[in-house]
Amino acid sequence: MTEREPIGVIGAGYVGLVTAAGFAELGSEAWCVDVDAEKISRLRAGESPLYEPGLQELLEKHSERMHFSTALADALEHTRLLFVAVGTPPTHSGDADLSSVYEVVESLPAGDSAADRAIVMKSTVPCGTGESIKRAFKESGRERLAYVSCPEFLKEGSAVADFLHPDRVVIGDDRDAAGEAVLELYRPLLAREHGGSASGALVRTDIASAEMIKLASNAFLATKISFINEIANVCEETGADVVEVARGMGLDERIGPKFLHAGLGYGGSCFTKDVSALKLLAGNSGYHFQLLAAVIEVNELQKRRVVARLQRHLGTLAGKRVALLGLAFKPNTDDMRGASSLVLAARLQAEGAHVRAYDPVAQEQARALMPTLEYVSSALEALAGADAAVLVTEWPELLALDWREVAATMSGNLLVDGRNALDRAALEAAGLLYEGIGRGAPPRAGDAHARAEQQGERARDSVSVRAAGAGA
Ligand SMILES: NC(=O)c1ccc[n+]([C@@H]2O[C@H](COP(=O)([O-])OP(=O)(O)OC[C@H]3O[C@@H](n4cnc5c(N)ncnc54)[C@H](O)[C@@H]3O)[C@@H](O)[C@H]2O)c1
Repeated sequence: MTEREPIGVIGAGYVGLVTAAGFAELGSEAWCVDVDAEKISRLRAGESPLYEPGLQELLEKHSERMHFSTALADALEHTRLLFVAVGTPPTHSGDADLSSVYEVVESLPAGDSAADRAIVMKSTVPCGTGESIKRAFKESGRERLAYVSCPEFLKEGSAVADFLHPDRVVIGDDRDAAGEAVLELYRPLLAREHGGSASGALVRTDIASAEMIKLASNAFLATKISFINEIANVCEETGADVVEVARGMGLDERIGPKFLHAGLGYGGSCFTKDVSALKLLAGNSGYHFQLLAAVIEVNELQKRRVVARLQRHLGTLAGKRVALLGLAFKPNTDDMRGASSLVLAARLQAEGAHVRAYDPVAQEQARALMPTLEYVSSALEALAGADAAVLVTEWPELLALDWREVAATMSGNLLVDGRNALDRAALEAAGLLYEGIGRGAPPRAGDAHARAEQQGERARDSVSVRAAGAGA
């Protein structure tokens, strides 16, 4: 293997760690820096601080090639390209908080030691950030630092696979050596016409367009999700079944089946903040992005509609026992940021319900955010004596529950399928009262076929995020 450029990665979270491990897999030395000393000491001990399929294995496989430190100087000493993957959470105003990004920018060297260096922005930042940072470099005598925008499109739960098999790699730069160096790093993941042997398409563009590609992509996916959720709500009024409707729509190749799964609304750290950041970015530039205002509102209401549904069946929720099955914002992750369970649990508690919760992986993260819930160590324990249950996250182990056992252990029989992921016929055969999202029509003979088809699509689409538990 030809010698590959070593990389620095600032911020060892979902994006930073996967980027470092992914490039290590492609042959680079990776120097990871994080301000979180506990995270770094766990990484030094060979332990992944977050749950992401395949990540622990890569950390072990490349332990010689991956280095971890709390000191930026360690990365600066060994690398020219610094991938920035720090968080950009929303501020109180809903705009992106760029303070961590600027902390990194301000700690970069000036003078001769800036020469040939570049920062490569993986964090999702508002369009215009690259220009502002280049201006800041200039004003502080560090114009020799180059800037490349390289937005990240990985999805939690399949992040390692997404890194190694990207749909596209977006590089926004000034057509300079730094952009070329980033392109060289990604080359093995690109399609043949870009010198690679894989299937990723290359989008080499200007910095502002690269920044906007990321925001617009997430906003579009969120819009698709809110759209099908609104269709689901109309289905509930009209007797149509949104699963059938989505299947019929998705077969149109202009529409496609992905992100057409009605549910409790999108969650996760990215969609919520990126949609809001884009709406406000437009507003700050004098444009009212009306569509995104509706997308956000639909999503907020979608999480709350389940409460009304439970009330319709149970009357007042005061004193009622409700089991929440799954808490993470989607399966295969321990990430609780933006999870629908946060809103749902808070609303249920506000109505006086006793909430018992179970998640196969995200329980500790959930406990830190919702300390007043009762946590148990299995789904059946959560269901014992429950008046109703809500499937919040479609973890495989929850889809495979023995529904007769579930019916026998619950006090009531209502099960709300917040992800339209369960086998309605099996639940009903077990004596449970099944309620999906937007599934107005009673089950028909064709249901089994539609369900089988949808489950097949879910399997194929395992790297995609669903409306039900969506988020990047
Ligand atoms: N998580 C995703 O699925 C995803 C996908 C695409 C893009 N993104 C974007 O990538 C960025 C990172 O997201 P994430 O989910 O990996 O966040 P994260 O919170 O998991 O990780 C961020 C890390 O940066 C560290 N950090 C903060 N300030 C620092 C500093 N000054 N120096 C060094 N380390 C610092 C934090 O301690 C944390 O470990 C965000 O902008 C996000 O929008 C995330």
